[in-house]
Amino acid sequence: MTTLPYVSGFSAHTPANVLTNKDLEAFVDTNDEWIRTRTGIHERRKAPDGVANADLAAEAARGALALSGCPAESITHIVVVTCSPDVLCPSTACQVAGRLGLRARVAIDVNAACTGFVSGLDVARGFLATQKKARVLLIASETLSRFCDWADRTTCVLFGDGAGAVILSNEAIQPGGLHARLHDVRHAADGSGGDLLHFGGRYTNPGSITPSDVFGKEYFIQMNGREVFKHAVRSMTEACQEVLHDNNLTIADIDLFVPHQANLRIIEAVGSRLNVKPEQLFINLQKYGNTSAASIPIALAEAREEGRLKPGAKVLLTSFGGGFTWGAALLIFDE
Ligand code: UT7
Repeated sequence: MTTLPYVSGFSAHTPANVLTNKDLEAFVDTNDEWIRTRTGIHERRKAPDGVANADLAAEAARGALALSGCPAESITHIVVVTCSPDVLCPSTACQVAGRLGLRARVAIDVNAACTGFVSGLDVARGFLATQKKARVLLIASETLSRFCDWADRTTCVLFGDGAGAVILSNEAIQPGGLHARLHDVRHAADGSGGDLLHFGGRYTNPGSITPSDVFGKEYFIQMNGREVFKHAVRSMTEACQEVLHDNNLTIADIDLFVPHQANLRIIEAVGSRLNVKPEQLFINLQKYGNTSAASIPIALAEAREEGRLKPGAKVLLTSFGGGFTWGAALLIFDE
């Protein structure tokens, strides 16, 4: 039987720069009341100009290394999940490797949009299955503020920047320290939903770009919010039901439910379909908005700070994002 991967070092880093709903009112046709009632978001973080996605990622990584007691030199793989890199090449993982001074390691980016952290857990599990001594630094880092059209009120109020990181290994890095085991992870995609949420290039009319071209509207987030909402609720609910069923658990066995933080109404809809009780639910989107792949690891880091990642705790994660992609994972903390 293969060892269940250890997960430790639950860390996050968000830019200090806060953009409140009131701040947005100054330059886009929106208001604090609409944003709070339709999304649950009060404020979000925005990386200042000059701060790279890889800077946020490296900070979150340093935190995870320190918290898990893992010497940076022992990391064998760096996996960055992101859909908002500053550049396509070099990868954000290579940039993080450079910032951490780590050479000759595997360093790759994975893009599964908001589902990235859940997908990244599976990618990391794959490395651990084939390499006994592997230690995987898994980072989710996003700067979606750079893909927002700040004149489009239907999208720009939703997103924020931030990063979270964990370390996965086949052995306990700090015996007696706080760590979970990855009991299950699954993720899936349906590429027919791409037209409902896309950004970063010419999705509907791809073609060559010349040096004199400027990106048009499609560089910025284009989303049919209502449709995405429905798919998100259905997919996350089903993914959680599968994971619970296949692990002989019911929702009542779960100590902490950490869904992707996109919209409070989506979280409540999934929660009510699964019968999640308020005390099981972790919500922090009021402070950060939708940080895409980073939302779950940022939430896990805050849950750790609040003492909610307790020995023995069963934690259910779920996410949904562009593609469409979705998934769920089960972490159980060692006693
Ligand atoms: O991370 C995974 C991907 N993303 C998501 O999961 C997001 C999924 N979707 C959502 O969260 C919601 O659909 C939104 C928050 C994006 C929109 O909420 P909604 O309740 O679906 O609103 P709506 O799009 O149906 O718009 C309702 C009204 C419209 O006005 P009319 O046409 O009824 O006059 C919009 O123009 O609200 C208007 N509106 C706004 N008003 C003030 C849309 N955005 C805003 C805004 N401020 N920021």
